[in-house]
Amino acid sequence: MFDIFETLARLASVHSPAGFETPVAETIAELAAPYADEIRTDALGNLIVCRKANAGNEGSYDPKKVMISAHMDSIGMIVTHVDDNGYIRFSNIGGLAPAVLLNVPVRFANGTRGVIAKEGKAEIKELSLGDLYIDIGASSKEEATKKVNIGDVAVYAAETYMVGEKRVVSPYLDDRIACVVLLMVLESVKESKNDLYFVFSAQEEVGTRGSKTAAFGIEPDVGLAVDVTSTGDIPEVDVPMQCSLGKGAAIKVMDASLICSPKVVRKLEQLAKEFDIKYQFEVLQRGGTDAGSIQLSRSGAYSGAVSIPTRYIHSPQEMCDLDDVRAAAALVGLYAANELDF
Ligand code: CO
Ligand code: ZN
Repeated sequence: MFDIFETLARLASVHSPAGFETPVAETIAELAAPYADEIRTDALGNLIVCRKANAGNEGSYDPKKVMISAHMDSIGMIVTHVDDNGYIRFSNIGGLAPAVLLNVPVRFANGTRGVIAKEGKAEIKELSLGDLYIDIGASSKEEATKKVNIGDVAVYAAETYMVGEKRVVSPYLDDRIACVVLLMVLESVKESKNDLYFVFSAQEEVGTRGSKTAAFGIEPDVGLAVDVTSTGDIPEVDVPMQCSLGKGAAIKVMDASLICSPKVVRKLEQLAKEFDIKYQFEVLQRGGTDAGSIQLSRSGAYSGAVSIPTRYIHSPQEMCDLDDVRAAAALVGLYAANELDF
């Protein structure tokens, strides 16, 4: 059985920002191999794990193609130039808020460590990425470029740890925790009425790019994304939202990338009720998921998403509740394995 914490800690520590997913794809492929009928990768770097329908479909039911997508890329900081004093300047891969980056430890693929700092004169209130730099401890450009060069990408250097009984803090819960959910589903679904395509997608953080090509290739009848979502359960929240840690798997109704197919939403709700899985509904005003690109693939596919409520998204210290993770895995597993009417 996949241990959620252990598997998350392993995946979250792999250096794999958007566009450079090979290391995390290899780790996931190794974990998925015992449960897969077929594993393949494509030009964009998506990892596609296939499981054929195997539950008595002798009757009238026509197995559906179900694409379940969790993105395996992370946000990151890409080096634009190195100044004469050896300070590393960078741009963003995906959504980075300057204020969140201040004094944050980072690391590059080759193990080089550094800390993000701001120019002395920069005002914290008006901080932009251009005011920030990575200090890798070098005293000159020459010394710095022996370790770090243009186009190299840094990621957060942070730990995965528990707070309280059920909550985990980690960098890149977005979306490595959903990769764990897919592995749990892969392991737990013994019999499926549908052909399942578990897609560990690439480049979600830069505009759901991987799931676009994956969906085109798979041509699913239905797409389900598993991703993190924001919550409204923190003090003085900026965008009020009725989604909380510990209140169950979040069945997405809408976000900025899609209006979920009502058929998918109602089926998820029905399964959650029938099997007594804790759930809540989600309307996310800012942000999107792979489900948005799957829905618009070719002539369109029924699409929806199951989300894991997460605080402090895109910071090095994201937090979610393990009970919600288990609920999400149970719900996605039921949806994948059962008859779907389309
Ligand atoms: Co994200
Ligand atoms: Zn995400």
